[in-house]
Amino acid sequence: MRQYICDKWQFVKEFDERLKDADYSGDAPEVRIPHNVADMPFNCFDESIYQMVSGYRRILCVDKQFEGKVVLLTFDAVGHDATVYLNGEEIGSHHTGYTAFSIDISDKIRFGEDNVLAVKVDSRESLNTPPFGFVIDYMTYGGIYRDVYIDIKDPVYISDIYVHPVIEDPSGRVKATMVSDITICDNRQNREGALNIKQTLKDRRTGDIRELHETDLRKGNIVRFGVNDIELWSPENPYMYELCTTITTQDGYTDTIVTPTAFRTMEFKKDGFYLNGAKYLFRGLNRHQCYPYVGYAMPKSMQVMDARILKEELGLNAVRTSHYPDSQYFLDACDEIGLLVFTEIPGWQHIGDAAWKDQAVENVKEMITQYRNHPSIMLWGVRINESQDDDEFYKRTNETAHSLDPYRQTGGVRFIKKSHLLEDVYTFNDFSHDGTTPGCEEKKNVTPDMEKAYFISEYGGHMFPTKAYDCEEHRLEHALRHARVIDAVAGAEEIAGSFGWCMADYNTHRDFGSGDRICYHGVLDMYRNPKQAAYVYSSQQENTPILEVSSSMDIGEHPAGNNSKIYIYSNADSVRMYKNGKLMKEYTAADSEFKNLKSGPVRVDDFVGNAVHESGEYSKRQADLIKYGLNANNMYGLNHLPLKAKLKFLKAVTVYHMSFQDMTDAYTKYVGDWGGEATEYRFEAVNNGKVVKTVVKTTLASIHLQAEADHTVLKEDHTYDVAAVRIKALDQDDNVVTYYQEPLEIVTEGPIEVIGPKITVLRGGMTGTYVKTTGTDCTIEVIPEGMNRLLIKAK
Ligand code: GAL
Repeated sequence: MRQYICDKWQFVKEFDERLKDADYSGDAPEVRIPHNVADMPFNCFDESIYQMVSGYRRILCVDKQFEGKVVLLTFDAVGHDATVYLNGEEIGSHHTGYTAFSIDISDKIRFGEDNVLAVKVDSRESLNTPPFGFVIDYMTYGGIYRDVYIDIKDPVYISDIYVHPVIEDPSGRVKATMVSDITICDNRQNREGALNIKQTLKDRRTGDIRELHETDLRKGNIVRFGVNDIELWSPENPYMYELCTTITTQDGYTDTIVTPTAFRTMEFKKDGFYLNGAKYLFRGLNRHQCYPYVGYAMPKSMQVMDARILKEELGLNAVRTSHYPDSQYFLDACDEIGLLVFTEIPGWQHIGDAAWKDQAVENVKEMITQYRNHPSIMLWGVRINESQDDDEFYKRTNETAHSLDPYRQTGGVRFIKKSHLLEDVYTFNDFSHDGTTPGCEEKKNVTPDMEKAYFISEYGGHMFPTKAYDCEEHRLEHALRHARVIDAVAGAEEIAGSFGWCMADYNTHRDFGSGDRICYHGVLDMYRNPKQAAYVYSSQQENTPILEVSSSMDIGEHPAGNNSKIYIYSNADSVRMYKNGKLMKEYTAADSEFKNLKSGPVRVDDFVGNAVHESGEYSKRQADLIKYGLNANNMYGLNHLPLKAKLKFLKAVTVYHMSFQDMTDAYTKYVGDWGGEATEYRFEAVNNGKVVKTVVKTTLASIHLQAEADHTVLKEDHTYDVAAVRIKALDQDDNVVTYYQEPLEIVTEGPIEVIGPKITVLRGGMTGTYVKTTGTDCTIEVIPEGMNRLLIKAK
């Protein structure tokens, strides 16, 4: 039985020994878990804000009826060093901020009475534990930021189970063997008598339950059974099962554990990643688990939301949890919605002393034992991100990983080429693309061992920081850089896949970012609103029709008024572009310069259409020439015409006797529209002959606010719930009005609270807010009231 204890904690910013006392009467406000030790502004704050030795306190009462049972107290994560006290006595400690720890408090707890639970939480970055010791490019927020609970068990219980289905044959009607490595904790004096283990397998989709196994065991052991006709798991078909394991002893004790599981094979081979026997290209982004204002402290719904955004909005099939293991809720969501996961131990570039390394090895153990049942995990990262070689240390981390999980391979993220490869896979941060160079390095230039697999664990990021309100050409180049890398990876047979840097902007230390404590490296902003680069990814999926155009079509946004580079992002069969109602051109993916992508961005190269030909003023040949010249002028500008275009201009002068003025007039007539009536550009995405999405770009005439909550039914499960509201200023055709940066007041009604400021601003025409429940379930309604007020009503 599990009881969550996320409510009714008291918190003080400075740990006080008296917190351990029963009669503590200090001024410690009540807080709920997930909790952050300090609330933060959006940006422009110092990391010292969350560095402190703080204290938490809670009265814990376990019913008298449970006397004689085992009581396990678990903290899912405390940032970063925790010492736990019960009734004044120290009962345990934990020295890393990204994994769970449990303490058996059965002998310490006074059943049926008030017990004082106190936690000293050290969130100073001077700690001698990963990731600390040198600079870090992300903030390392403190606090009890994941769930806390107690499990009440019989004296004999399952303390661990590692379920690893082995596929015998992935083709046809799949046969597998279910292997469960069960560890049993037996606290009885007299351990006589057999132990019975029963397992059932439930199909989560159909609800069907199969009786699988019943056996007698003396102790925990490995249990195997065969199973036929199962469905394989993949990102495209994340088919989940649930293994229910029950043990019973002759003296009447019992324990049951339900383990979500799935059937799939995963293997990195020298030429790539193989999923269920077939080569599979994965495409993902790196994710940091932080949010504006509260850092790491967000409940289940927000973890699940991020997984959904990656999969459903960005159309990805993979994620790297940089640079630490994420919440179990996030991993559960990856299992359920189908995202392959590369997770890794905490750390960033720095390797510390012997004690520090011991802790890192401990972190490998905790990561693997706590996360190995997730079918979505494809690889363990057992090196400190971007650290130097340290063979002795990394031999230990690799051995630890392989001994705890012989079924998964290891990798470890490097920024150095040809470093010592003690892992199974060389994973490299390839920042070689600078806008002019190829999208990525060749495998042979990076890895020392061509016989082992290779993939790109990061690209992009600091090579081209981009704000949602940067100028259009900058935002476009950001998007194109992402496109160039994924295109190059898709074309490189021997690269298993890639993870871009990164999903969303994040707060960082002073050594990084734009001076305001933000790294603008995301394809999404901190609220998870899309920047243009997001469309490079979303247009690769097939489930939702995507149509976005890189430009607002306003020439004044560009140097010398030359709006020469316009791209279409779409996954449709074709996209028709109209200018003032006239068809200019119908584009397909074949028009894209990104030949390895299914739906690469397509550059607009026709602003003339048939107008010149239909004017009747010119012969077909002359009309061809003029159209070519006008489009070339539009794409490259007069001063940068390619040779071919220059020759055509020459021909216009010599053969057709056109003067410069004639050509300027033609430009004004067929392309330019300065001072004329507003030009309307319409783009239509067409699938199977039907228009599935339309984008209209014309002069801004009016704006309105759009606000959408990620979910509207908020549930107080075992703690508060949070809804994320994404807010955009849109024009009359629902295009984001990028340079609308005005204030917005957020007003609530009913049992919810705003996280962060109640007055915010739009940045790049977008912003967001978060609302949390205050003790009851509710349904929210988000109502824009004009441009400067957003009402969020809860009932
Ligand atoms: C990498 C690092 C990431 C992030 C990124 C920025 O070197 O691993 O954490 O800092 O650079 O591009």
